Amino acid sequence: MHIDTVRAAYRRYAGVYDLVFGKSFEAGRQQTLDSINRRRGLRVLEVGVGTGLSLPDYHPDNIIVGIDASEEMLRLAHERVAKKGLKNIESLVEMDAQKMTFEDASFDVVVAMYVMTVVEDPKAVMDELKRVCKPGGDIYIVNHFSAEKAGLRLKFERMIANFAELLGWHADMPMTPLLSNAGIEIVKISKLPPFGMFTMVHCRNQDTSGEAMLQGAG
Ligand SMILES: C[S@@+](CC[C@H](N)C(=O)[O-])C[C@H]1O[C@@H](n2cnc3c(N)ncnc32)[C@H](O)[C@@H]1O
Repeated sequence: MHIDTVRAAYRRYAGVYDLVFGKSFEAGRQQTLDSINRRRGLRVLEVGVGTGLSLPDYHPDNIIVGIDASEEMLRLAHERVAKKGLKNIESLVEMDAQKMTFEDASFDVVVAMYVMTVVEDPKAVMDELKRVCKPGGDIYIVNHFSAEKAGLRLKFERMIANFAELLGWHADMPMTPLLSNAGIEIVKISKLPPFGMFTMVHCRNQDTSGEAMLQGAG
């Protein structure tokens, strides 16, 4: 979706977002944060941080920066940080994930949960996730990826893809074209509830300088 459409959609959804999506997206957030929280002293970027549902669950020794395109979603994230007294949130900034203003290699870990199917250009976001992540750092993507083989599921996803603007997300985004030739190594792919509808992909940013920074995530 064009970023203006995204902003308009989330202006409408913001007030009810936690109620509608809080529970159904919980498993992906939890599994991702469990993996990140095994390590300490990290600077983490959460792209499409939304209302900040995940923010209280990061280990306090990891520093978090969040970005989102929607001012209204971010306002709720700021309120959550204040209410919960979270001290490890460095900043929450309005920014387009397709054109971030961070320097290269700014973060140890970069996370995008339930964002890729919402943005206009997922490949541009993938390039940005890689650019702002340190070489050897970790990238986590949680998303619904569409079927890659012919069958009923693919037919259904192609049919509802016509309603992308109305639904606010693209149902027909396969994983392979997004991740292949992206300069990343896949560490782990996990299917998530409900019904394996969502997938968590844990990737390692390949070190183009040849000095891989090996870290024990998994
Ligand atoms: C489905 S919500 C997911 C929110 C949060 N990650 C969660 O797990 O609840 C998608 C979020 O991505 C944000 N978003 C969409 N397009 C974006 C873009 N181009 N740049 C930054 N954020 C974007 C939306 O504003 C929204 O807050």
